[in-house]
Amino acid sequence: MPKLYEIVEKQDLVPGMALFHVYAPMAAKNMKPGQFIILRVNAKGERIPISISGWDSEKGTIRIIIMAAGRTSTEAVALKQGECFQDIVGPLGEQTHLEKVSGTAVVVGGGYGTGAVMPPARAMKAMGNRVVGIIGARSKDLVLLEAEMREVCDDVIVCTNDGSQGVEGFVTDGLKQLMEKEDVSWVLSVGPVPMMQAVANLTKPKEVKTYCSLNAIMVDGTGMCGACRVSVGGKTKFACFHGPDFDAHQVNFEELVQRQKMFLEQEKIAMEKLEE
Ligand code: FES
Repeated sequence: MPKLYEIVEKQDLVPGMALFHVYAPMAAKNMKPGQFIILRVNAKGERIPISISGWDSEKGTIRIIIMAAGRTSTEAVALKQGECFQDIVGPLGEQTHLEKVSGTAVVVGGGYGTGAVMPPARAMKAMGNRVVGIIGARSKDLVLLEAEMREVCDDVIVCTNDGSQGVEGFVTDGLKQLMEKEDVSWVLSVGPVPMMQAVANLTKPKEVKTYCSLNAIMVDGTGMCGACRVSVGGKTKFACFHGPDFDAHQVNFEELVQRQKMFLEQEKIAMEKLEE
């Protein structure tokens, strides 16, 4: 039997991004689509929230994708199969708002978000919805999890910035084309904030129900510390407790971006120390 929080399988996806299967039986047993975990790489490290891209309750494993963005995520991506995370807390947050909708349901994934939209996409499909996946990358070589997305969804639109595969441009270009052809009535986007904001701006005039998963800075992950506060519909919400999914048309993205930049200087110092 694996050790608690042991990496039982690791797959390098693209430079700086890896997929891990981690033995975390309690999390695997209770996980629902859209929920997340908080992990530490070592005893002195910070706690970082990570979306879940799948789980196997029989094996007791969860599947996560980590992108090396700061010091902790860089240390995490460097871990090898057989090594262990310090600890994992979860599942945290509310599950995605799932329902049978009248038109097409669309999941939009950017970067690590391509994995994160997989469980909600599966659940929406199981409810009888037509589900289309839209995934984006800079170029063909950097497209993530396309084969799996094709298994999960009825159709997949790949968008590349350089046009080397599928639609040339951003995920919003793929979504725009789809909205011209089909009655899109539900959208979930997970990925970088500018991407989620652009998706929200595109669907708002047509009043398409749109959710996004907010990757605010988190500490405790249980609604106690206030670190992850975001403004949604003019009200303060805690991304870890009320979210992470929110009505994307109500989110104050500008404030979210500002709050995400709060510790850039400390992050820079931490990275320099890691490289010493
Ligand atoms: Fe502390 Fe959300 S992380 S309240």
